[in-house]
Amino acid sequence: MKQRVVSGMRPSGRLHIGHYHGVLENWVKMQDSFDCFFFVADWHSLTTEYADTSGIIQSIKDMVLDWVAFGLDPEKCVIFRQSMVPHHSELNLILSMITPVSWLERNPTYKEMLDNIDQRDLTTFGFLGYPVLMAADIILYKAKRVPVGQDQLPHLEITREIARRFNHLYGQVFPEPEALLTETPKLPGLDGRKMSKSYNNSIYLSDDAETTNKMVMSMVTDTNRVRRSDPGDPDVCVAFNLHRIYVPQEKLDEIAPACRNASIGCVDCKKILAGCINERLAPFRAKREELSANPGFVDELLREGSRKASLVSDTVMMEVRAALKF
Ligand code: TRP
Ligand code: SF4
Repeated sequence: MKQRVVSGMRPSGRLHIGHYHGVLENWVKMQDSFDCFFFVADWHSLTTEYADTSGIIQSIKDMVLDWVAFGLDPEKCVIFRQSMVPHHSELNLILSMITPVSWLERNPTYKEMLDNIDQRDLTTFGFLGYPVLMAADIILYKAKRVPVGQDQLPHLEITREIARRFNHLYGQVFPEPEALLTETPKLPGLDGRKMSKSYNNSIYLSDDAETTNKMVMSMVTDTNRVRRSDPGDPDVCVAFNLHRIYVPQEKLDEIAPACRNASIGCVDCKKILAGCINERLAPFRAKREELSANPGFVDELLREGSRKASLVSDTVMMEVRAALKF
């Protein structure tokens, strides 16, 4: 029996290469060795984007196209949309009854976001309850493992506490899921800050080769290297973080010393990088084009995936209701 894995992503639209190397690539690798459920956390996006939902459908389509084009296989894993499986909401409600508010208030992500985000009013019930909905997402499938990044570990800890409390109150129903911490390579954006849609510094998986070339050429390098004749240092060069991922080792062994003795310029060096990125992404990009030619593709895929997910969640909810004596 393969271990059950559940993970979700909020629908953020087209994915950038940071999402790919940070999360998606890892999901793709897990499809064979685990029983995987991957979902679009569209209700979660409402916790912060409730005031403007106009882009959500397009964001879901774009993200799911990236998922499938870049390697998730609906024959190997269940791909679904949270809001198409209403059991998430029912379990969220039940879990909310047993979750002390203090657990949520001391959640570091909650405090940090309340302090840092001032364009939106996040003093809502739903935003405070974000980790409860996330706990419901996970234990609804009795997941054993949850691949997440470092930033989600406090949420996962709350999930474990909620599962434990449920079992304590109503009898053993849920396993306590464990984090499968995703190792994320350092992948800065074009300007050296974290790659993020809001900074406009990203290379998107679905960009065409021309756009990627332009983006890479605008990338910050070693800021001490002002003139072409100045020696550079790959270890402090922003672009070189991408070289490490995309450029083959033999080539890296040539470039690094050539940078240090100024026999290669940044323009040529980044051309090599752009070429390698485009070469690596080309087959996936072509697949994405092909998939998106069928306008009903994502809808159908999510409908079928959500049907499969419901088969599991339905049985678990029956157990939950029985445990509650409802
Ligand atoms: N909170 C996650 C994020 O922002 C998304 C998410 C929602 C999730 N439900 C989940 C991740 C369940 C793993 C499991 O990235
Ligand atoms: Fe970076 Fe390459 Fe320029 Fe060296 S030559 S600073 S590695 S871009």
